[in-house]
Amino acid sequence: MSKKKGTIAVLTGGGDCPGLNAVIRAVGKTAIENGYEIYGIQNGFNGLITNSMQLLTNKELSGLLPRGGTVLGTTNRDNPFKFAVGEDSKGNVIYADKSAEVVRNLKNHNIECLIVIGGDGSLHIAAELSERCDVNVVGVPKTIDNDLPYTERTFGFDTAMAMATEALDRLHTTAESHHRVMALEVMGRYAGWIALHSGIAGGADCILLPEIPYDINSILAKIRQRKENGKSFSIIVVAEGAKPVGGDITVARMVKGSFEPIRLGGVGEKLVTEIEQKTGIESRCTVLGYLQRGGSPTAYDRVLSTRYGVAAVEAFMNRNFNTMVALQANEIVTVPIVKVATNPRGVPVDSDIIRAGRHIGICFGD
Ligand code: F6P
Repeated sequence: MSKKKGTIAVLTGGGDCPGLNAVIRAVGKTAIENGYEIYGIQNGFNGLITNSMQLLTNKELSGLLPRGGTVLGTTNRDNPFKFAVGEDSKGNVIYADKSAEVVRNLKNHNIECLIVIGGDGSLHIAAELSERCDVNVVGVPKTIDNDLPYTERTFGFDTAMAMATEALDRLHTTAESHHRVMALEVMGRYAGWIALHSGIAGGADCILLPEIPYDINSILAKIRQRKENGKSFSIIVVAEGAKPVGGDITVARMVKGSFEPIRLGGVGEKLVTEIEQKTGIESRCTVLGYLQRGGSPTAYDRVLSTRYGVAAVEAFMNRNFNTMVALQANEIVTVPIVKVATNPRGVPVDSDIIRAGRHIGICFGD
């Protein structure tokens, strides 16, 4: 018989993100310090369906703070309520409801609360587990996109923003030396947080966000005006979810069986092709891609991840279930998890950051 006060579990779901291991460490250490046993579930919800979990001790939790990725593994495909079990003769995915297995595996390990570190897809599943299966859950908001509602910051965003800013600094040197237009396409799905913040920090001339459809003529006017003022190069940050006025987003691929099958990408290349054709200025696009998600978290993300991990276990100890920990006015709070499983939080178009950008002459494509 375990002498522990109780047992909880933690999983990481969706795309990897800097700070995941720092949250796992904080959750584990807080649980152990307070006399609880903690299981780490392997590969997101998949591990709950297949019963893949292991007890975490201080040994497994050691060395995690600066480490990128997730030591638990992750996936953005395995929804217990809609689990892919095969394909029919036409290649359509066949799904089955595996939520009963999840509940059984949690019960067999006496797990009283499941801490889900994830973005909207994983938190949506966590909310469904609490509502439909009576599982006690606490969510931790993860995503480089910073697009979850009811929190001002998700962990991982700061690191992605820093990477994109460094990329812009590097692109500046080639842009200036070769008198080119250089575009950087950044991630963020349907929200422009990474583009906006890195664009301001990296001194971009144009920042194109999903929230503000762009008119190519405004961008061309900005580039030409800079040329007239003796600046023979321009820097553009374009969010992968940006689209022209009256046009559509650019889809790179569809991922079968994913929570959210659309993968964006390609708008930057389209944009530079059009700019080069219309201005005659040599133009190039760099897609920053997964470099934004990999590697060690910034100091800010390590602190935020630690605060979130500790707060998630505190929520469990206070029996404040079916909540997500969040940052509001720089304080850690909890919000009902069902509220979070709604639309993504875009950049408000009247935000003071956009206003500041306009005042210093940045073109937002409108
Ligand atoms: O949500 C994080 C994110 O990196 C998005 O910015 C991006 O659109 C998407 O995930 C890419 O997903 P995947 O890893 O499945 O290619």
